[in-house]
Amino acid sequence: MNGPENVAPGDFRAVLGRFATGVTVVTTRSPEGDPVGLTVNSFTSVSLDPPLILFCLDLEAGSLPAFEAASCFAVNILGTDQEAVSNRFADPLAARFSANEFTGWSTGAPILADALAALDCTVHARHDGGDHVILVGRVQRLAVLDDAEPLVYWRGSYRKLC
Ligand SMILES: Cc1cc2nc3c(=O)[nH]c(=O)nc-3n(C[C@H](O)[C@H](O)[C@H](O)COP(=O)(O)O)c2cc1C
Repeated sequence: MNGPENVAPGDFRAVLGRFATGVTVVTTRSPEGDPVGLTVNSFTSVSLDPPLILFCLDLEAGSLPAFEAASCFAVNILGTDQEAVSNRFADPLAARFSANEFTGWSTGAPILADALAALDCTVHARHDGGDHVILVGRVQRLAVLDDAEPLVYWRGSYRKLC
């Protein structure tokens, strides 16, 4: 039996907001082949052998059906100058992709040209994550693309490393 859950949503956000993260754009393709992607900071590494990573996707996300149908996705780690990219991929109304901005590696999931680094993954597992689904990816290819500083997210705002 679980213990009492005295967790107010505001406290949950305030506490989790103290955990500084990087910012990524996670991408895939729709069944029609169109690029799909959103800003994600729930990315984390899981396992070195085999090479696994994960991110958590909101069950309310418009891109959920594409990620549910896809057998692959890519994680693009954003640099300090990519705040506008992060905002664009978090904006429900924005046109997120422009044709010359991305390419495809092994799986065909969009790799953003200006990302700091990227991981091209096949879907290894999907797990229940409450109001999110946890997508575990098996890394097929990865590379550092730029030596710039990372974009950091902390307490609901973008930050730079000192
Ligand atoms: C810094 C930042 C981090 C985010 N992290 C996540 C995340 O980990 N998972 C998620 O589902 N949404 C996350 N979001 C919200 C989505 O990017 C946003 O809701 C987006 O519009 C969803 O797109 P979609 O509805 O087309 O799927 C984040 C937004 C920002 C600005």
